[in-house]
Amino acid sequence: MTQNDAYISIRNVNKFFGSFQAIDDVSIDIHQGEFFSLLGSSGCGKTTLLRMLAGFESPTSGEIYIDGQPMSDVPPHQRPVNMVFQSYAIFPHLNVRDNIAYGLRKQKLPKNKRNELVDEMLELIKLPDYGDRKANQLSGGQRQRIALARALILRPKVLLLDEPLGALDKQLREQMQLELRALQKTVGITFVFVTHDQEEALTLSDRIAVMAEGRDLQVDTPTRLYENPLTREVASFIGTMNFFDGKVTGISDGTADVDVKGIGEVSTTNFGPRLRPGEDVCIAIRPEKLNLTESEPQQMGNKVQGLMDKAAYLGERSHYYVGLDGISHPVAISAQNRQRAEGTPEEKRTVWISWEDNAFVVLEKG
Ligand SMILES: Nc1ncnc2c1ncn2[C@@H]1O[C@H](COP(=O)(O)OP(=O)(O)OP(=O)(O)O)[C@@H](O)[C@H]1O
Ligand SMILES: [Mg+2]
Repeated sequence: MTQNDAYISIRNVNKFFGSFQAIDDVSIDIHQGEFFSLLGSSGCGKTTLLRMLAGFESPTSGEIYIDGQPMSDVPPHQRPVNMVFQSYAIFPHLNVRDNIAYGLRKQKLPKNKRNELVDEMLELIKLPDYGDRKANQLSGGQRQRIALARALILRPKVLLLDEPLGALDKQLREQMQLELRALQKTVGITFVFVTHDQEEALTLSDRIAVMAEGRDLQVDTPTRLYENPLTREVASFIGTMNFFDGKVTGISDGTADVDVKGIGEVSTTNFGPRLRPGEDVCIAIRPEKLNLTESEPQQMGNKVQGLMDKAAYLGERSHYYVGLDGISHPVAISAQNRQRAEGTPEEKRTVWISWEDNAFVVLEKG
């Protein structure tokens, strides 16, 4: 991936508010038509980064390029971007049509052209019959769609969305996620989407930047972030993960052998380029990549015996916690209940844990 095919290029950007550093040497390339998310917990700098893309804040150092142009001297209204804020600022006293057309008022379009564009937007957001409604007679989800339409009607090359679904309840939020994703594919605009909800980021995004304390920890596809996190920080931020201490005993042919505390010898191809033999590492496995059986799984080469600590039946799946010799925390295992459950396994009973080759990931020391 060259820097040239990046549509938005954030290069070594730092942002200080007084002596407080909100953004710490962030470099991210975003491609045209991408649904790109900034994911991180509260205060990690997501809004600050978005506001710098929009031009409402300037980097203290570093540069932002959009479509090959440096943005440092370009004011917000001249950037090919539009922003949808978390508190969707639509005008309650205007009707839906006038809200959507609001940004067009400077363009002096003939009335019929203007109406045509608004109709197109109403169709797109699936509210074709709502044009004459007052904005304060709409539900939260409908208002959110109006806010989106108002931004989209200006055909920005980039749409910046700051937690646009934050105020919605879970059901509406999930429905809007699907609509937003479909909408983005239809209009082909580059989306930079801010969220602190990992599931939302995984569902929607082509790629995600995981952020913490002003830094970009890892920029990757949802699958790679989940399956191949580079650091413990990223691995524990996305989903649940079991961590173990280990020592690399050898690396050959792209496979690392690691002596894992409580588990034994583990071979895996999932590790970064900086790994060295003899290194002490953190090694990890997702709960659903571990199998749990009461008798020894004869076909599995990778296995260890443990003691059932706790079992929780959740209907569609069960969560188990199994104690292993030499490890203080029980290991989490998640299993789908494909067959009818006949009751949960007894606690304090001996069980077997097994796993497929390459189920473990070796993490870089963060
Ligand atoms: N104008 C400002 N002056 C001083 N500090 C600021 C300013 N704006 C943001 N900050 C600080 O910068 C840090 C990042 O803020 P930012 O709003 O970017 O976080 P965020 O990731 O969007 O968080 P949230 O998920 O809560 O919206 C925070 O610690 C915040 O207090
Ligand atoms: Mg924010």
